[in-house]
Amino acid sequence: MNNTATPGKAKLVLHDVSFYYGDQPAVRQINLRIYANEILAIFGPAMSGKSTLLRILNRLSDLAEEGRLEGEVLLDGKNIHDPDVSVIQLRTRVGIVFAVPVPLPLSIQENVTYGPLLGRGRSKGELDELVERSLRAAALWDEVKDRLSESATALSGGQQQRLCLARVLALEPEVILLDEPCSGLDPISTLKVEKALLALKESHSIVIVPHNVQQASRIGDKAAFLLMGELVEYGVAEQIFTRPKDPRTDDYITGRFG
Ligand SMILES: Nc1ncnc2c1ncn2[C@@H]1O[C@H](COP(=O)(O)OP(=O)(O)OP(=O)(O)O)[C@@H](O)[C@H]1O
Ligand SMILES: [Mg+2]
Repeated sequence: MNNTATPGKAKLVLHDVSFYYGDQPAVRQINLRIYANEILAIFGPAMSGKSTLLRILNRLSDLAEEGRLEGEVLLDGKNIHDPDVSVIQLRTRVGIVFAVPVPLPLSIQENVTYGPLLGRGRSKGELDELVERSLRAAALWDEVKDRLSESATALSGGQQQRLCLARVLALEPEVILLDEPCSGLDPISTLKVEKALLALKESHSIVIVPHNVQQASRIGDKAAFLLMGELVEYGVAEQIFTRPKDPRTDDYITGRFG
């Protein structure tokens, strides 16, 4: 996998980032640094702006009608909205996995090679190697290696989600965004996805919106608590989940919220 992430230096930096749908702010003046080789868990109640914040990071937010961004997002020090930035290349470097896995109606193998084939030509040997590497990194290889040419739609939900992760990994991203990737999965599939993410952080920056506080505390190195678009608290996950500084974070993680 591509490993251009430099430990110690922020991979992504958000400066005073706000995002509006029409005149409604969904996230407000967020300042955040996202580092290489760690998992940042962005958590908070419904409609607090978690998905919006994630989608800003690879400019999927550009697609929102009447959407408007203020502030700056820097990837390796470069503003992702600079006119010379290719959005396609940005979305290759910063890949995203959604809550509901939607495999293409193709074989398992073709789901993984679909993206890379759109780019430069690769030999069959290179593609086979990429498929194996991506499926291994998504903790799916052992379950599918004997049926790569079978339809991806026949896989279980948990397998489909790991296939969608493999599809993103095949593009060799530097940052992986995941928006509640385990929300529809049983606990065993959830653990498989989490195990894959823990291995992937050795070579990537990972930003996840977990499906609950437990998942955030299990896999987050850092955590960010969002409330009504505001970043209430950000820091080392272990501290946030055991000794939060802000009473609103405390209320939320102890279930007193609302
Ligand atoms: N495409 C859109 N057009 C208009 N408003 C939107 C759009 N997407 C999100 N919003 C609004 O922005 C706010 C934040 O939504 P967002 O989806 O980012 O929250 P979230 O924290 O991910 O919520 P959830 O936990 O329900 O997924 C909400 O008030 C939502 O209604
Ligand atoms: Mg969301």
